[in-house]
Amino acid sequence: MSDAPRLNRRPEWAELGDHRAGSMLHPSLRELFAADPGRAERYVVHAGDLRVDYSKHLITDETLALLLELAAATDVFGQRDAMFRGERVNITEDRAVLHTALRAPRGAVVEVDGENVVPAVHAVLDRMAAFADRVRSGDWTGHTGRRIRNVVNIGIGGSDLGPAMAYEALRAYTDRSLTVRFVSNVDGADLHEAVRDLDPAETLFVVASKTFTTIETLTNATSARSWLLAGLGDGGASRSGEAGSGAGSVVRSGAEKAVARHFVALSTNAGKVTEFGIDPDNMFEFWDWGGGRYSFDSAIGLSLMIAIGPDRFRELLDGFRAIDDHFRTAPPESNAPLLLGLLGVWYGDFFDAQSHAVLPYSHYLSRFTAYLQQLDMESNGKQVGRDGLPVEWQTGPVVWGTPGTNGQHAYYQLLHQGTKLIPADLIGFARPVAGMEPELAAQHDLLMANLFAQGQALAFGKTAEEVRAEGVPEEQVPHRTFRGNRPTTTVLAPELTPSVLGQLIALYEHKVFVQGAIWNIDSFDQWGVELGKVLAQRVEPALTDGADVPGLDPSTAALVAAYRALRDP
Ligand code: F6P
Repeated sequence: MSDAPRLNRRPEWAELGDHRAGSMLHPSLRELFAADPGRAERYVVHAGDLRVDYSKHLITDETLALLLELAAATDVFGQRDAMFRGERVNITEDRAVLHTALRAPRGAVVEVDGENVVPAVHAVLDRMAAFADRVRSGDWTGHTGRRIRNVVNIGIGGSDLGPAMAYEALRAYTDRSLTVRFVSNVDGADLHEAVRDLDPAETLFVVASKTFTTIETLTNATSARSWLLAGLGDGGASRSGEAGSGAGSVVRSGAEKAVARHFVALSTNAGKVTEFGIDPDNMFEFWDWGGGRYSFDSAIGLSLMIAIGPDRFRELLDGFRAIDDHFRTAPPESNAPLLLGLLGVWYGDFFDAQSHAVLPYSHYLSRFTAYLQQLDMESNGKQVGRDGLPVEWQTGPVVWGTPGTNGQHAYYQLLHQGTKLIPADLIGFARPVAGMEPELAAQHDLLMANLFAQGQALAFGKTAEEVRAEGVPEEQVPHRTFRGNRPTTTVLAPELTPSVLGQLIALYEHKVFVQGAIWNIDSFDQWGVELGKVLAQRVEPALTDGADVPGLDPSTAALVAAYRALRDP
C-alpha cells in the first residue's frame, strides 16, 4: 500500500477546489472568449487524424495548469509507462494490462513475465487473416459443402460490443454479400431473430468468450448448435455416412463434423472450448492480459475481420497504434487523452457533473456510445481505491448518448435548458463515407451544420436581451433564454475509415486510463458484475421448478411467486 497522500488531501486538489470556488465560480464562455479569442486556436490538439477542440470548456490557462499539476502529482505518465511495460497494474486480478500489445507492430518487444508476447499476437492475427480470407473467398465451406454466407457472432459485453459497434461503423467497408449478425442477450428472442431467415448450411457461428464460462454465451451457443444440427438434418447425417462411420456413431460423428465446419471459438480458455465441443483447431486465442472490454482488436475481432477483410482490420489496428504512440510520446499540454481525462475529472469532481454524453454525428456510429459505456463504466465505476479504502471523490460518470441529429429532437432540450451540467463530446467527420449516392452525400454539410450549431448553442446560449430584441413577449422571455456554458469537446476527423475508428477508440481507452490513474482506482477489474451473476443462477431453480431458494428476500420471493402465477395461470 502506498503512503502517497490520498487524492483529496493533495495540495493540487485543494488548489483546484479554490480555483473553482474563486475565479471559476460562475464561468461564462462568452466572457472567456471575449477576453481571449485565441483560445479557439490554442485549445486544440491533434492526435493522429483527430482534431480535438476543447475550447468550449469551462477552463482558463490557469485551470489547465492546475489540472496538469494534478496529473504530474498523481504520476499519470508513470502509471501509463507501467501499463505499456506490462507491469501487473490490474492489482485485484494480479494481471498485466496490455491491450496496446494487441496492435504493436511485428517486431516490437512487449514482455509479460519475461516473454515477448508480440510474436504470438501476430501469429493469431495471421491465422485469423487466413481463416477470414477462406470464408470470404468461399474456400471454407459448411458441412454440406455450401459456401458460408452468414456469420453469427455469439458473445456478450466485451465479446460483443466492440465487433458489433465496429461492424456498424464500417459497414461501407464490409463485404455486402455476407450477412453478419451479433447475438448477445440470453433472451431467446435475440438468437431467434438472428437466425430465423438463415440457412444453417450457409451459417458460421463465431462463439466469442474470453472465459468461455459466461452463461449467456454458452446458453446461446448450445441453442445455436441445436438449431444447426436440426437444420442440417439429412444433410449432416448423409455426409457423416459418406465418411464411413458405423451405424451407431453416425449421428454423433456427423454432429461433430458439422460443428467443426460451422463453429469457431475466440477465447483464452482452450479447455472449456474443447469441453463445449469446438475443435481446438478452430479456436483463435487471446490472453488474460487483454481485458474483455479492451479485447476487440484481439481474436475477438474475427467476425469484423471476416466482414471487412484482413487488410482493413490491419488499418484499424494501425489507427489504434497511432493514438497509443501519441499517448506515450506527446507532452502533457498536447496529449489528447490526458487533457480529455483531466476535463472529466474537472467536471465530475469540481462541478458535480454526474454524466457525460457522447454524441456522434454519424449514423454509422450508432453503437459507439454503447461500446463506450462498457469501456468507461465497467472500468471506472469503482468506489474503492487501489489502497483498499473508500474513495472520497467522484469516479466514473454515467456515459450515454446516441447519434445526432436524432438526439436533438429527443433529449437535447435537457442539455440546453435543464438543471444538470452534462459535458458532451460532439464527434464529426469532414467527408461522408465513400460510395454514397451524390445526393445523399450532399446532405453531409447539413449534418455537420447541426453539430457546429449545437456546440455553439450549448456554449453561448441566447441572452434575455437577444430574445427581447426578436420581439418575443416579455412573459415568454425566460422560457426562450438559453444560459449557455454547457461544455463540449468537438472531435473532427477527415472521414470515418477503419484507421480513424481505431484512433477514436484508443482515444477513449486512454482517457479512461488517465481518469482511473488520477482517481487511484483499478480500472481493469469488474467485481461489481459478479453478485448479480451469482444470484441469477441461485434464483433460476425457483423460476423453473418452483424450488425453495434458501435466503431469498421477501420482495424477490414475492416477485418470483407472481411471475410463476402469471406464467402458469
Ligand atoms: O460481465 C462482465 C464481463 O466479464 C465483461 O467484462 C466481459 O466483457 C463479459 O463479461 C463477457 O465475458 P466473456 O468474454 O468471458 O464471455
